[in-house]
Amino acid sequence: MVRPTIAMVGSNMMDLITYYEDNLPRIGETIFGKDFEIGFGGKGANQAVAASRLGAEVEVVTAVGDDLFGPLVIENFRKYDINTDFIKTVEGRSSGVAPIFVDQGGRNSIFIIPGANSHLEAEDVTKARNSLSRASFLLLQLEIQLETVYFSIDLARELGLKVILNPAPGRKLEWEKIRNLFLLVPNETELETITGVTVRTTEDIKKGISLLMERGVENVLVTLGEKGALLATGGGFADFPAYRVEAVDTTGAGDAFLGALATFLGEGKTLEESIDGACAYAALSTTRRGTQKSFAGREEFEEWYFQKKAGKGR
Ligand code: RIB
Repeated sequence: MVRPTIAMVGSNMMDLITYYEDNLPRIGETIFGKDFEIGFGGKGANQAVAASRLGAEVEVVTAVGDDLFGPLVIENFRKYDINTDFIKTVEGRSSGVAPIFVDQGGRNSIFIIPGANSHLEAEDVTKARNSLSRASFLLLQLEIQLETVYFSIDLARELGLKVILNPAPGRKLEWEKIRNLFLLVPNETELETITGVTVRTTEDIKKGISLLMERGVENVLVTLGEKGALLATGGGFADFPAYRVEAVDTTGAGDAFLGALATFLGEGKTLEESIDGACAYAALSTTRRGTQKSFAGREEFEEWYFQKKAGKGR
């Protein structure tokens, strides 16, 4: 199997995760939470770490603040064998943080305060040009400035990398700039934000997808949480049911999915095989608490996937 190189230009955050039982506090109210954890997160970093856990070589371009979290974040990338040469430290800024609230069903609500991530510029991406050119896929999200995202899309095109854009958190995008993307991976609300189509039914999802494809996006994959995912290519639509698991924390599952997807595609698997594997990898991550720390290594994943397939445990 080819060991793929995956590139990621995007965010990193410190996740401050509160687990709670019944409700979030109302304004002016103080209530007891159940548990608390600090972990490494950020959609970009999570996707990079998932790819690395599955065996990809990973190049990242990201930014941290000159606070106590910055060096920890850099060390964390090193721990996963990820090249840290293109991590910028922004003076006078805090690192990105994400207060996260997880309910009893494992569902999350997330605030992001991007801090240094908002200072990742096109010139930081240009500095990494040579390293990026070694990759086959580029992972992008929307937790950094849109100008940097658009610049990275253009650079990827020039360098011959296929771009996978996860438009999260949902933001309005300039159609012109996202033309010719290899794959756009929104969830339902993000699809609604990008296209302006109100999404309630599968027909609405298909309408949103068609709009994107008419504007030049090559393939669209809408993630549907526990309902799986819907893929649209030039050849039509395909459904991917989710793997059934006992979820305790869904934080970062979407990122696990994207890191895995890029890795499997980079290994030369088909889009369909890669999506199925990524659905399984994401499902496995929800059975544990935390973000990056819930991502399995390759061997453990293969064993779990094999058993799930054998037992048809979807
Ligand atoms: O997708 C999950 C991630 O979103 C968290 O790690 C948090 O940092 C936010 O970026």
